Amino acid sequence: MINFLLKTILFLFTLLAGCISCTEEVMQPLEKDEVCNLTFPSYFPEMTFNTSDNPVTKNGVELGRNLFYEGRLSRNNTISCGFCHIQENAFTHHGHTVSHGVDDRIGIRNAPPIQNMAFLKKYMWDGVIHNLNEQPIIPITDVNEMDSSMPEAISKIKNDPKYKKLFKAAYGDENITGERVLKALSQFMASMISADSKYDWFRQGKEKLTSEESQGMALFNQKCASCHSGELFTDESFRNTGMYYNDQFKDAGRYRVTLDQSDWMKFRVPSLRNVEYTAPYMHDGRFYTLEAVLNFYTDNVEDNPNLDPQLKQNNHIGIVMNNQEKQSIIAFLKTLSDKNFISDPKFAE
Ligand code: HEC
Ligand code: HEC
Repeated sequence: MINFLLKTILFLFTLLAGCISCTEEVMQPLEKDEVCNLTFPSYFPEMTFNTSDNPVTKNGVELGRNLFYEGRLSRNNTISCGFCHIQENAFTHHGHTVSHGVDDRIGIRNAPPIQNMAFLKKYMWDGVIHNLNEQPIIPITDVNEMDSSMPEAISKIKNDPKYKKLFKAAYGDENITGERVLKALSQFMASMISADSKYDWFRQGKEKLTSEESQGMALFNQKCASCHSGELFTDESFRNTGMYYNDQFKDAGRYRVTLDQSDWMKFRVPSLRNVEYTAPYMHDGRFYTLEAVLNFYTDNVEDNPNLDPQLKQNNHIGIVMNNQEKQSIIAFLKTLSDKNFISDPKFAE
């Protein structure tokens, strides 16, 4: 009997010890790393993000998230990536037409959303960047954005015990290098996949669209999908949509990259996922509502030698739509809203 009691006590003790080591593990989750399997619907395009060059891991993403919200990557320690790329606006900036950076300096472009970056081939409104791992160096060093440098940014965080721990957890040692900073930011951005909208539920046969939404989808496929094509709603081409050249910012789009006159005022076709949350619209944020964008397509497209042929069919400049059709298209565009993405705590500060 005593023997039995002893055994029971011993058994309970082992259980308790097991629990203690469990809680220890909960307190130190960063020590063990594991590969993150990025999940996305089968109808998505192929992933362009190269995971053999930069494997996405749990701790790499966690480090990237901390760096994304780190003001010390900027000269005056106040402007983080998250300052311009705000989660509730699908990681764009609702309040600003063009970006405001260090000392409230004004950039020339509207911050695009950060979502589904792992599937794009070209980044920025003019496609100047081809590799997501290289992208963050631009905002960190741009005088109108964070106005810092990689050595300066590293010197400010390298003695912070938080970063020593995070770098060790992600890379095996505490060494902080520019490449590691960039790759961690890139891992975080690669993990930001938005594919949980009403449209996706419809696509997966889990939900029906209303009749207005399906009418909108049919009109969209007819009038818009030649450029806003596929499941990301962009073919990633550069197009001239007949928008006036904005003298304030002197931004001629793709022309800035190629200096080829035929690229004058061509901009990358933007994804329309989460477009309900990403106002203002266009490369310089000139329109505040989706209604204004659609009114532009019907009434204000300006002819010019580079105007996309889709926007001057049968000698008509612009896209023909009546008000009711515009409303249906907007109803469809709102099915691309992914509430879970903009409220997911995984991506929050
Ligand atoms: C001052 C505001 C500002 C800050 C700070 C900022 N960005 Fe941006 N971001 C922009 C603007 C504006 C663009 C568009 C630039 C262009 O097209 O030339 C952009 C574009 C991007 C893109 C390309 C998206 C696409 O669809 O091609 C990525 C990725 C990105 N930023 C990530 C970051 C990261 C990472 C940081 C922090 C290291 C950061 N940004 C900091 C304003 C900002
Ligand atoms: C010829 C190609 C083309 C067609 C057709 C087209 N778009 Fe666009 N769209 C673009 C380009 C390029 C931009 C970015 C222009 C810029 O900022 O200078 C854009 C921008 C937008 C934006 C702003 C998105 C943002 O994040 O700023 C919306 C919304 C939009 N288009 C919706 C539509 C709808 C709806 C239709 C159909 C009625 C349509 N587009 C037809 C090429 C096209």
